[in-house]
Amino acid sequence: MSLKGKVAIVTGGNSGIGMSITLELAQQGANVVIDYVAHPEATEALEQKIAALGDQAIGVDADVSKVADLQKLVDAAVQKFGRVDIMVNNAGVETRTSVLDTTEAQYEKVLEINLKSAFFGTQLAALQMIKQGGGGRIINITSVHEDWPMPGNTAYCLSKGGMRMLTRTAGVELATHNILVVGVGPGAVATPINLSTMKDPALMKHLDAAIPLGRMAKPEEIASVVAFLAGDGASYMTATTVFADGGMMHSSPGL
Ligand code: BGC
Repeated sequence: MSLKGKVAIVTGGNSGIGMSITLELAQQGANVVIDYVAHPEATEALEQKIAALGDQAIGVDADVSKVADLQKLVDAAVQKFGRVDIMVNNAGVETRTSVLDTTEAQYEKVLEINLKSAFFGTQLAALQMIKQGGGGRIINITSVHEDWPMPGNTAYCLSKGGMRMLTRTAGVELATHNILVVGVGPGAVATPINLSTMKDPALMKHLDAAIPLGRMAKPEEIASVVAFLAGDGASYMTATTVFADGGMMHSSPGL
């Protein structure tokens, strides 16, 4: 229970990697504000699962592409649990479109949900952490594609590249407040964002072959890295990204 008494916010916390992060942080003793925009029933089921662990969680319906909604998450954490110690900027989408065919609407959607939300999530959580004192942790869920091109997924790569520099720059800026900002860069993970690949056996074979560990990650294998970065063991880590990609980034182009 290394996070006993800590208060966390997880954006996109009711599905995919976000759901595993929520559960892992709760299992480690944290109270969690679960942000969601869709599937309230999934959020409710998650709250109940967490309640069964003896911990507390609340679901908050918030669209993280809107700054006012991000503030709603911070306010909910303060109101219900008294503070914010850990902000996980996890919400993310992709359109799988190239530089030649991405529309303005697709560009805006990806950049707003992935990057704008992480920027203002960082800002609002940091302001609260400074107000309450004692530092905090901001964890940005990026991707191997914060650094590594994925042809046919341009806006996504752009957003993740932006998160990379957000992590580094905010990490440097906020260090004097003992607010540590780190990125977690997964490779391919078995979550809804990769559903179309997972439904295609030929593509899966190709993908598995491109990963040195020979398989996609389970979402729990990313959540455990996040929990480590939120805890005491990571007290000297900031302005950097930890990759959990089964070696993928060093072996092939994105698939
Ligand atoms: C993307 C997936 C892709 C994976 C590995 C992830 O960040 O969301 O679409 O399969 O990276 O390339």
